[in-house]
Amino acid sequence: MSDLLLTGISELVTPVGSGPKYGAAMSQLRTIRRAAIAIERGRISWVGPESEWSGRSNETIGLGGRAVIPGLVDPHTHAVWAGDRLADFEARNAGATYEQILAAGGGIWHTIRETIDKSSEELVALALPRTQALIRSGATTIEVKSGYGYSPEAELRMLEAVGQLQTQTQARLLPTLLIHLCPEDPVARQAYREAVCCDLIPEVARRGLATAVDIFVEHHAWSAEDAEIILACALSHGLAIKLHTEQFQRVGGLELGIRLGALSIDHLEVCTPQQCKLIGSSKTVATILPGVSLHLGLPAAPGRALIDAGAAVAVGTDLNPGSSPLFSIAAAMSLATRLNGLTAPEALTASTSNAAAALGLTDVGRLEVGLPADLLVIESADWRELPYTLGHTMVSQVWIAGQRQII
Ligand code: NIG
Ligand code: FE
Repeated sequence: MSDLLLTGISELVTPVGSGPKYGAAMSQLRTIRRAAIAIERGRISWVGPESEWSGRSNETIGLGGRAVIPGLVDPHTHAVWAGDRLADFEARNAGATYEQILAAGGGIWHTIRETIDKSSEELVALALPRTQALIRSGATTIEVKSGYGYSPEAELRMLEAVGQLQTQTQARLLPTLLIHLCPEDPVARQAYREAVCCDLIPEVARRGLATAVDIFVEHHAWSAEDAEIILACALSHGLAIKLHTEQFQRVGGLELGIRLGALSIDHLEVCTPQQCKLIGSSKTVATILPGVSLHLGLPAAPGRALIDAGAAVAVGTDLNPGSSPLFSIAAAMSLATRLNGLTAPEALTASTSNAAAALGLTDVGRLEVGLPADLLVIESADWRELPYTLGHTMVSQVWIAGQRQII
């Protein structure tokens, strides 16, 4: 006897099978027309054509001929920050570049100054409405990075805030320790790197505060050499690794990430055709962030070329105050079809099973018996209205672990 049966589903569309989908496999979706889903203790206990359901259920809810897809996974956010970046926004609109603002001590440094002394309670209060906006847009699993604390104590506080936030939302949150910026002076940089490797990463691993370590490898941030030391330390503590890289310059981050077996490499706005092939022959997920291209006017990451080279591409919002104030995973998915050349089925895979793979998860991002009943009811009979529509989210219901969310 199931707890709940959802009927009246025009079409149920989902990737199939666990693990990342590479290249051409990204467009292979399973479609069940006139479907039903049975839910038991928060998990899917049956899924198939409604005409084939022969079980019994305590409750039945008809969805009125609307489409159902898996809950979306946002594999890259910086949802915890204090202050704003409106001064940057004005400066950029007047012609300054993101990199110039950062080099002058603004940008990310400004957000660090605003965030460094905030309590975890203050940070939770700021992050909760952002998380709720992401859920309303269709995200049921959300990665959240630290990275605006800078001091090891404040970085720990940011991760503690993500842990507290988890008690206030039903969406599954995946905390990541982000080693964001570094001191310019080489001696101070080495001391900071040692504090990260000897104190911060071991403490994060010991307390289970994050599942992965991410690092910003760029001209105005970490070198590939320093990143290798930090990422090797993360791996030695049993943490997965991720990189922010190839956003503005190519300083070796992409090659390093592939060599070290990163779970994902993220951004890739300046990734070359040769580098697409390198990713395509690896297991690492390529996470593209179209909100950044839109907001900063950067080139779009070569999503099409990455898929054609055999890569597993994921899409994220990169929700943050500086480079992507994008509070909608559905919009990120929509933008990926316009800016990065993904087809609608590829964009769905990128926002579900591949985004899950970018977080090392195998139990979300698809609708299958035994998995959590995380699903979206689309406002239309055709799920493609979701990536098609701009400026309005076509998500009419969000269900997490078999419970309808109030959105
Ligand atoms: O993913 N580029 C590095 N980090 C973030 C931006 C952070 C910020 O500007 O506050 C990103 O783009
Ligand atoms: Fe980011």
